[in-house]
Amino acid sequence: MTTTVGAPTTFDLGPAKALSCRECGHQIPLAPEFACAECFGPLEVAYSFGQVRRADIEAGPRSIWRYRGLLPVPSDVDSHPNTQPGLTRLVRADRLAAALGLRSLWVKDDTGNPTHSFKDRVVAVALAAARQLGFKVLACPSTGNLANATAAAAARAGWESVVLIPSSLEKAKILTTAVYDGALIAVDGNYDDVNRLATELAAEHEDWAFVNVNVRPYYAEGSKTLAYEIAEQLGWRLPEQVVVPIASGAQLTKVDKGFRELGELDLVEATPYRVFGAQATGCSPVSAAYKAGHDVVQPVRPDTIARSLAIGAPADGPYVLDVVRRTNGAIEDVTDEEVVEGIRLLARTEGIFTETAGGVTVATAKKLVETGKLDPDAETVLLITGDGLKTLDAIENHIGPRATVPPSAAAVHEALGL
Ligand SMILES: Cc1ncc(COP(=O)(O)O)c(C=O)c1O
Ligand SMILES: [Zn+2]
Repeated sequence: MTTTVGAPTTFDLGPAKALSCRECGHQIPLAPEFACAECFGPLEVAYSFGQVRRADIEAGPRSIWRYRGLLPVPSDVDSHPNTQPGLTRLVRADRLAAALGLRSLWVKDDTGNPTHSFKDRVVAVALAAARQLGFKVLACPSTGNLANATAAAAARAGWESVVLIPSSLEKAKILTTAVYDGALIAVDGNYDDVNRLATELAAEHEDWAFVNVNVRPYYAEGSKTLAYEIAEQLGWRLPEQVVVPIASGAQLTKVDKGFRELGELDLVEATPYRVFGAQATGCSPVSAAYKAGHDVVQPVRPDTIARSLAIGAPADGPYVLDVVRRTNGAIEDVTDEEVVEGIRLLARTEGIFTETAGGVTVATAKKLVETGKLDPDAETVLLITGDGLKTLDAIENHIGPRATVPPSAAAVHEALGL
C-alpha cells in the first residue's frame, strides 16, 4: 500500500472527511489507519454531512445503502457487489412486552440479514471502504458471526478472505463460514488470542483489510444503520430506551452515535433516549466496571455459552461506559441459564428464534425491568442481533419433542393428555 499517514485526502468515502482520535481529538486525513499516532487512542470517522433529507433516504435502496449519505462509503457504493444487508424488520412485540411487564416494546430482528446477524452491516461498510482504500483481501478475527459475514461478502465481491476463529467455536458457525470457501483458520486459543494474532498479521500484510482491526474505524460505522433504521421504522422518531448486547462494545457506541446524528441533522426530533448494555455473566467485564463505578475495563477470561459475545478485553469498553452513563442507562449481566430462558421466552412469545446473544439481550431486559432500571412505561427496543440456528448446541439439552409415538391418533392423544 502506497498511502502514508498525513497524505492529502484522496479517498472518496462520501461524507467522511477525516479520522479523529477518540482520546485526544487529533485529526488525520482519511487513511487505512486505526490508532492515533500521537497517543495510540482509537481513531473514529469524522464527517462533513451535506443535506440529507428523509425523502431521499426513503426513495433509496432497500438496504443500508439508503443511508450512504451518512456512512464512510462512496456515493456509487450500491453499484459494487456487496451483500446489501439492512432494512430488517422492526417487530411490535406485545406478547413479549406483557411477559416482561413493559407497556411498549419492539424487537429489531437482525436475524434477517444475508448471513443472519447484524455483522453483515459492519462488513458491508468495511468492504466498501477497503475497496476505496486499496486493500485486496478481506480478513477478520471473529467470535463467529463476523466470520460468516466476512467470508460471504468477500465471496460475493470476488475477493480472497482470511478468517481467524477460536477452534472451540460452535460447529454451525464454523460450517456457515467454511461454505464460502475462503481461507478459514481455526486457532487454538480464545478470541482475545485470535485478536492479538490478527493485529500482528495486519502489520505484516499491508493489503489485508482486517475489517475489525486495521479498518475498524470504517467498519464500526456500519452499526449506526441499526439506529437509523429503528428511527425511520418508528416514523422518524427515537425510542426512549434501547437494549444492546456488548462484545467489543462497538455496536452500542455506534447506535448512540447514529441516534445523535439523526437529531443533529434534524432528521428526527432530538428527544432523550437511554442506552442499556447486556452481557453474559461469564464474560461481563463492562458490566462489572459499570457496577463498580470504574472508567476502565478490567479484562476477563470468558466462560459462557454466549460465545459470540465472548470478548474478554473489549476495545470499546470505556466508550460504552461513557454512553450508558451519559444517557442515564445501565448495564446488566445474566447467567447462561437465563440466556437459554431468554432465547425460549422470545421464541414462545414472538415466534423469533435468536442465538445466545439475543438470549442475553432478552434476559438482561427482564432483569432490568425487575430491578426497576428499565422504565416499564417508556417505549423500548431490543436489538436481536443473530439467528438461533447457529447456536443450536446452546439449547439442545433443554428442549425437544414432547413425546415420540407410533403413527396412531390414540398415541398422539395420550401424549397430549386428551
Ligand atoms: C450476534 C452478535 N450480537 C452482538 C455482538 C456485539 O458486537 P460488538 O463487538 O460490536 O459489541 C456480536 C459480536 O460478535 C454478535 O455476534
Ligand atoms: Zn490521540
